[in-house]
Amino acid sequence: MQEQDAACPHGFLPTFQHFATQAIHVGQEPEQWTSRAVVPPIFLSTTFKYEAPGRHAGFVYSRDGNPTRNILEKVVAALDGAKYSLAFSSGSAASMTITHLLKAGDHIICMDDVYGGTNEYFRKVAVKFGLKISFVDCSKTKLLEAAITPETKLVWVETPTNPGLKIIDIEACAHIVHKHGDIILVVDNTFMSAYFQRPLALGADICMYSATKYMNGHTDVVMGLLSTNSEDLHNRLRFLQISIGAVPSPMDCYLCNRGLKTLQIRMEKHFKNGMAVAQFLESHPLVEKVIYPGLPSHPQHELVKRQCTGCPGMITFYIKGALQQAEAFLQNLKLFTLAESLGGFESLAELPAMMTHASVPENDRASLGISDTLIRLSVGLEDESDLLEDLDQALKAAHP
Ligand SMILES: Cc1ncc(COP(=O)(O)O)c(C=O)c1O
Repeated sequence: MQEQDAACPHGFLPTFQHFATQAIHVGQEPEQWTSRAVVPPIFLSTTFKYEAPGRHAGFVYSRDGNPTRNILEKVVAALDGAKYSLAFSSGSAASMTITHLLKAGDHIICMDDVYGGTNEYFRKVAVKFGLKISFVDCSKTKLLEAAITPETKLVWVETPTNPGLKIIDIEACAHIVHKHGDIILVVDNTFMSAYFQRPLALGADICMYSATKYMNGHTDVVMGLLSTNSEDLHNRLRFLQISIGAVPSPMDCYLCNRGLKTLQIRMEKHFKNGMAVAQFLESHPLVEKVIYPGLPSHPQHELVKRQCTGCPGMITFYIKGALQQAEAFLQNLKLFTLAESLGGFESLAELPAMMTHASVPENDRASLGISDTLIRLSVGLEDESDLLEDLDQALKAAHP
């Protein structure tokens, strides 16, 4: 059962209890530093002095452990309602490290509509090490169950998916996956952030993030995070974190730790602005269709309300017309920046077919609905009226 507060906007789950307090205080105690610094220091030192040969005060070498990284890992664990958390040099590094839990011959089931880089890593890199991959629409639990073989060791889902914004029922997936023995269920929680969704409480074994997105939220850090409640998984992942060595810099840990202090208020504003933009686009005559889980028109609106405390600022929509209109729209935006990535304070827009998902095979793109008129928005924290005005003028400019 998830422990939650009373407030419940738009019929979603109530906010997780003590979230903002934990984001601000867990792991940050000034008493742990002799200086009693209220803001945790950045420990750039790569090595730490032993008290005597074989006797040290907890830190030896910065890849193995660093005080600035430690405090970040502590606060992330608290925000995920987890026992353990680990930080990596990117979301992709976290994904690779998780994949190293497997051995040649093992089988991975990956949601078909995942981040293009995850799809490419499994298809082009993991297979070279003897891992077998199936891409399955895990939003249909029957398809997931049918794809499980005795070799299946990892199920990888992302919810909402990218860019289709399909919602996966995490609890239902966990039920199926765990019926079949020793399979690890990973949920990429990048889009929802720890503020809107707690995959571990719903039965996932590992919750992972590209912290490059909402968790840091300031578009100035590339980082990955993962959390788990399993001591065994934590110990194996901690070994791999050190052994593979894809760890973040202390400076980036400092910045991400700082970003988390405002995660709650940022996500609330992303939700507010995202909802306003989605409603505006849905009623716009130059828009074919809007996909936003926060709208009642989304086919899994009821599921997202049951599973999450809100929705982020990620919206996809089909513009009326063809590629020419999509390109003209993107070129005419003044406030939304034409750029990849998401989850920062600034609003971004992109064309997945030619940008983030260009590496996904053309046939797969077609079956996932990633057409030339599909546009993805990451709605930021600007004033709502300015965002709507910008979208309106760019839509009109694209349809002269
Ligand atoms: C959902 C999702 N997961 C993972 C990644 C990979 O993370 P990173 O770019 O930090 O390596 C991304 C990057 O865009 C993403 O959007």
